[in-house]
Amino acid sequence: MNQASDQARPTPRAGIMDIEAYVPGKSTAPAGVAKVHKLSSNENPLGPSPKAIEAARDVAAKLDIYPDGTARRLREAIAEVHGLNPANIICSNGSDEILGLLAQTYLAPGDEAVITEHGFMVYKIYIQSAGAVPVSVKETNERADVDAILAAVTPRTRIIFLANPNNPTGTYLPFQEVRRLHAGLPRNVLLLLDAAYAEYVRRNDYEAGVELVAGADNVVMTRTFSKLGLGGARVGWMYAPMHIIDAINRVRGPFNVNATAIEAGIAAIRDRAHVERSVAHNETWLSWVSEELTKLGLRVTPSVGNFVLVHFPEDKKHSAEAADDYLSARGYILRRVSGYGFPNALRMSIGTEEANRGVVAALTTFLKS
Ligand SMILES: Cc1ncc(COP(=O)(O)O)c(C=O)c1O
Repeated sequence: MNQASDQARPTPRAGIMDIEAYVPGKSTAPAGVAKVHKLSSNENPLGPSPKAIEAARDVAAKLDIYPDGTARRLREAIAEVHGLNPANIICSNGSDEILGLLAQTYLAPGDEAVITEHGFMVYKIYIQSAGAVPVSVKETNERADVDAILAAVTPRTRIIFLANPNNPTGTYLPFQEVRRLHAGLPRNVLLLLDAAYAEYVRRNDYEAGVELVAGADNVVMTRTFSKLGLGGARVGWMYAPMHIIDAINRVRGPFNVNATAIEAGIAAIRDRAHVERSVAHNETWLSWVSEELTKLGLRVTPSVGNFVLVHFPEDKKHSAEAADDYLSARGYILRRVSGYGFPNALRMSIGTEEANRGVVAALTTFLKS
């Protein structure tokens, strides 16, 4: 290894080495565990749509051919299902990519971008990557606080990153509150509504953001196929005003969505029966898991997503860390969330019936131990 001094080798831009790399949820259990239930990444326990699997298989024989760089057919399928204009959609390699492209495009060094106390961690990474300053604002009862966000806006603020619902809390802002937030922002500040879990929300006062985007110049909505069975395929999208679509199209990779993702995505979004099954499964088991864990004496943050944030007792024996070890040893892989400001909580994705019942049974024994 060449031990040359820092000056003698390429060095990243100022600030890059201050970024704490994202640590994805674990996917393995200790050796010897017979069956692993991965409940750490909010994937769909029903798996991909069978139609998406078939479509991905069909692409395999044509892997030599570049994909359509504009993902036109995928945009049209999304537009048809959601009643949108396909020209206002950009598809991406997961919605993460779009979040990064927005940061890269709208943030310059020294600019500020607002995130919330327990907001999705990837935002901070992209803000720092752009050389900008993440400004974290307090939440109230583990929910974004519109007044606190508005109070944090300065002349340097360029983007507000808002996950609605948020990960890892599962809480959401009713749409009246989102509108109030938008109304209070200067028009040059971009409001980014990250609606990664929108499909799962069953609340009359929730909206993902379509109408707000359509009626304003400074709002975008990002979405993903990851939580409905295509996490591995990496399909995300954004609905945005034309001037933002135009800017992002200049900076994105020319073939940023691969051929398998395009075809699997088209088949998945058209398979409404699979989406409905997935949402219905979640509705049933989200309530069940929340109630059962609460009965065990654990505090569960009320969630509208496909996961729950579970808080553990303050005694060392029954801490989140101890629970994580106990569950992992039995094949239940949950998500540690210390990095999100919850050192004594675990996030659990809603799983199959077997996994949900298994976690509740294991925690029942754990808490008695
Ligand atoms: C709030 C939120 N936004 C965006 C994403 C990114 O999803 P993907 O890049 O898989 O589309 C996630 C994934 O966990 C998320 O929780």
